[in-house]
Amino acid sequence: QELKLSLEQIEKGGYEHFMLKEIFEQPKSVHDTMRGRLLVDEGIIKMAGIWDHIERFKNANRIIIIACGTSWHAGLIGEYLIEEYARIPVEVEYASEFRYRNPIITDKDVVIAISQSGETADTMAALKLAKEKGAFIYGICNVVDSSIARITDAGSYTHAGPEIGVASTKAFTAQLTILTLIAFKLGKHNGNLGNADFMSLIAELDAIPKKIEDVLSSTHELVQNIAKDFVTATNFLYLGRGYNYPAALEGALKLKEISYIHAEGYPAAEMKHGPIALIDENMPIVIIAPKKGHYDKIVSNVQEIKARKGKIIAVVNKGDTQVSEMADYVIEIPETSECFSPIVASVPLQLLAYYIAVYRGANVDQPRNLAKSVTVE
Ligand code: G6P
Repeated sequence: QELKLSLEQIEKGGYEHFMLKEIFEQPKSVHDTMRGRLLVDEGIIKMAGIWDHIERFKNANRIIIIACGTSWHAGLIGEYLIEEYARIPVEVEYASEFRYRNPIITDKDVVIAISQSGETADTMAALKLAKEKGAFIYGICNVVDSSIARITDAGSYTHAGPEIGVASTKAFTAQLTILTLIAFKLGKHNGNLGNADFMSLIAELDAIPKKIEDVLSSTHELVQNIAKDFVTATNFLYLGRGYNYPAALEGALKLKEISYIHAEGYPAAEMKHGPIALIDENMPIVIIAPKKGHYDKIVSNVQEIKARKGKIIAVVNKGDTQVSEMADYVIEIPETSECFSPIVASVPLQLLAYYIAVYRGANVDQPRNLAKSVTVE
């Protein structure tokens, strides 16, 4: 019997959509992004783009990260990483705002552009502006030889492989991987990250692909079942603190992009300055609450939500009790240092958005009105 597999079906490798395939590729794509760079036994992070220009980074007044969409969320986490481990001031800007607001840029600034496609018009224009003003410009792109990769002074590719689904998944976690490597490398070099801490952090980073694999296998079915209960939801709130605040923004973006459900991400502590007014028994709230990272504060945020009868979907560490007891749905992820938790916590949130969208009959790989690469303003 003739096998009638279209090219696209073959490319999807047995998955129903590219997005699901790309979510499941993350143990490999994160590993590929570290391969040849993270040499755990030698205690070395090898990144030629950084090393060849180490003086520019060392003498930088500040680092400005520019990006759009999901890449901008990665940039926010990059800010937390670089400021914590390398103690260099970082600002993160939407490329579209940066380019039109007459920003102060000097030749002592390092500008890092993050772009999966390497073709985003606003990011490209912002980079040109920074270059004109003499800043050193660095690219973090996924597509090799893309326009942004070509105009930057140096850069590091994410080796996530081609990303076809419009909603970015594996490119995001690869961007976080690169930013982590950069932060650790700079911190080690400028003496802000001591050797013992450096060694234990890189060993932990090396184990992240395995943790992603564990999360995929332990949460896949559970998240599918949770998604069934939210097919008719009209709103969602996503909350997190510290490193997981940008992870909450990204979780909300995934949901709105592909399911068309209105979703907002917020830093959990900001809830009382507005979003709390929205909470009632019809409001689903995804809360990212790993043990490391303001856990006690999150517990009190969850209590406030509970008192208002919000439906709580909690992403917690294995063995968690306090938040889990109050939550309506519990998704467990392995414990990591706080700086790695957005990589691990993003995985079940990608699955949640994916399954809600699938059950709503949406075209997850090509959502309405969105493009994979936005080459016009
Ligand atoms: C579009 C895509 C997003 C992406 C953003 C930035 O909006 O739909 O998934 O995050 O552009 O793209 P870039 O290629 O610059 O990362």
